[in-house]
Amino acid sequence: MSIEDLEDIALAMVAPGKGIIAIDESSGTIKKRFDSVGIADTEENRRRYRELLLTTPNLSQYISGAILFDETIRQSTSDGVPFPRYMAENGLVPGIKVDRGLQPLAGCPGEVITEGLDGLRARLEEYARLGARFAKWRAVINIGEDIPTSTCIEANAHTLARYAALCQEQGLVPMVEPEILLDGDHDIETCYDVTEATLRALFQALYQHNVFLEGTILKVSMVLAGKDCAEQADVDDVADLTVRCLRSAVPASLTGIVFLSGGQSDEQATAHLNAMNQYDNNPWPLSFSYGRAMQSAALKLWSKDLAGNYAAAQQTVFERARDNGLAALGQWKPAG
Ligand code: 13P
Repeated sequence: MSIEDLEDIALAMVAPGKGIIAIDESSGTIKKRFDSVGIADTEENRRRYRELLLTTPNLSQYISGAILFDETIRQSTSDGVPFPRYMAENGLVPGIKVDRGLQPLAGCPGEVITEGLDGLRARLEEYARLGARFAKWRAVINIGEDIPTSTCIEANAHTLARYAALCQEQGLVPMVEPEILLDGDHDIETCYDVTEATLRALFQALYQHNVFLEGTILKVSMVLAGKDCAEQADVDDVADLTVRCLRSAVPASLTGIVFLSGGQSDEQATAHLNAMNQYDNNPWPLSFSYGRAMQSAALKLWSKDLAGNYAAAQQTVFERARDNGLAALGQWKPAG
């Protein structure tokens, strides 16, 4: 695996009009999602659900790849084809979540650090053997009274950089994800400042750790007011502030940027992405790596009749992929 191979994978992940479907919910999160719609959280139901998503007909028309969880990358379709092989044969780049979740950051009340660096080299080597071509690590920054601290921002940036360097050593494209949480009543300007500070620290750390930006993807939250803030910005303001913040803090040599949906409605996530792609001369492709905003409607439909609604749920996944794929080109039009 050469440096050019990393760049080719990264370019494929943000190919024009395509984005990523995030289906890497950890064991705890998928249980929460299943519980919310009354699906039993069994290994077989998790496998069937991930199979439903990945085998959606014509998915690769708008989806370049998917992020899997450790359990899923070892599972197979009902016909016995391992998911990573199924994906590679159907035009989807296989990715894997490699962080091990959040822990309180000692000495910094209310803040968290992501764990999972110990033994990561060996795990990446195995994931590459299983067919993964990129790997995701999620860091979380909370906004609240007197937080985030620079200690938390720097600790997470350093951790992301160590993971990213290990990924590239093992031939995997790092998808570095600093998520600024929507929880709280902060205004959009506060989110802008925190996002900018986080991204500057992140790219400084990536530089210090010799991470090759042409073989790296940034996954980030949009600049939004906290969900309990009385004043919510309109679509154009969100797009304007998000693009401005990225331009101020993200080097142009980065291959691409994808957004998480983070609790936005399906329509908002699509409208915001579409508005950002109205701007000329963005230095990088801006696309999506949505979890909830790709899956929620399909999960709800499937839960009502696991056998009977299988195809209809896949159709819903396809429609979300199509809408977000068009938004990645700035060509989406709201229904009606
Ligand atoms: P959401 O789009 O549901 O925020 O999930 C994306 C993701 O992978 C968060 O890490």
